Amino acid sequence: MTILFVSDPVVGGEEAWRAAMSERLPDIPFKLSTETYNKEEVEFVLCFRAQPGLFAGMKNLKAILATGAGVDGLFLDPDLPDVPIARIVDPWMADQMAAWTTYAVLHFFRRFGDYHTQQTKAEWLELEPWQAAPARVGFLGYGAIGATVGKALSNFGFEISAWTRSHRNLSGVTHFHGINALPAFMARANFLVCLMPLTRETEGFLNEERLALLPNPAYLINLARGRIAVTEDVVAALKNGRLSGAFLDVSEPEPLPADSPLWGMNNVRITPHCSGPTNPSTAADQVAGNIVRVLKGDQLENLINRERGY
Ligand code: GLV
Repeated sequence: MTILFVSDPVVGGEEAWRAAMSERLPDIPFKLSTETYNKEEVEFVLCFRAQPGLFAGMKNLKAILATGAGVDGLFLDPDLPDVPIARIVDPWMADQMAAWTTYAVLHFFRRFGDYHTQQTKAEWLELEPWQAAPARVGFLGYGAIGATVGKALSNFGFEISAWTRSHRNLSGVTHFHGINALPAFMARANFLVCLMPLTRETEGFLNEERLALLPNPAYLINLARGRIAVTEDVVAALKNGRLSGAFLDVSEPEPLPADSPLWGMNNVRITPHCSGPTNPSTAADQVAGNIVRVLKGDQLENLINRERGY
């Protein structure tokens, strides 16, 4: 039996995962995809992004354990085997994303970009504070991560709303669900925080027409996946003032090409997909727990629904 970790030059973390898994399951050999291994011995694959063909010949595969919260990277393989797939649901990761999003919202809300520009000119000048009280934050997607981020932001007095695809019982937020409720949700999102999974349904979701539903001012904060937004529509909205600013941790493609107009825009802040890194020392317990579950014949925790794509 082998646990195979699929090395990903962008994501990294190989040795931390090896240490974390060997500590928890010392009797099961752990191999990196860059090492020599026997495909027929692989029973568990840890993977963020699957290259087509990766799973060919893994006749004894029992489960795929995603090493991230989003599993869209696995569906890049058209021959993804029909075994259960689990994702990471880690409070530590959600806390990191809450910190990142809080920074992003406050950047615009408290005009830190404008103050930075003033600082470059040694200009001491108090700017107008936010006028439209209360400032409203709208979450596109409100799963385990969204709820943690929403709670963090509500501490600052923001009014929180959330849009989800289907009905859910959510407390502490104004909740909208279903596509018919999207315009009402968008109309009150001064800060639109995108935390939806990337699926067939959400690809290109934030297009010109939907961005036009936002109020004035509106800021886009995307820490989900770049492909959920249509990049040229976001650029156009930033240029024509429909969007007053954007804080982006993700792009399409990644890395964001050097010639993207987004890099040079004053009202845009970019980070390189770092808002919610997976931390093997906090995430490995659930991965090891899932391996033990499968070996005992139990269901995986944080199981993916393949039809939904998340
Ligand atoms: C990162 O993007 C993740 O899905 O964990």
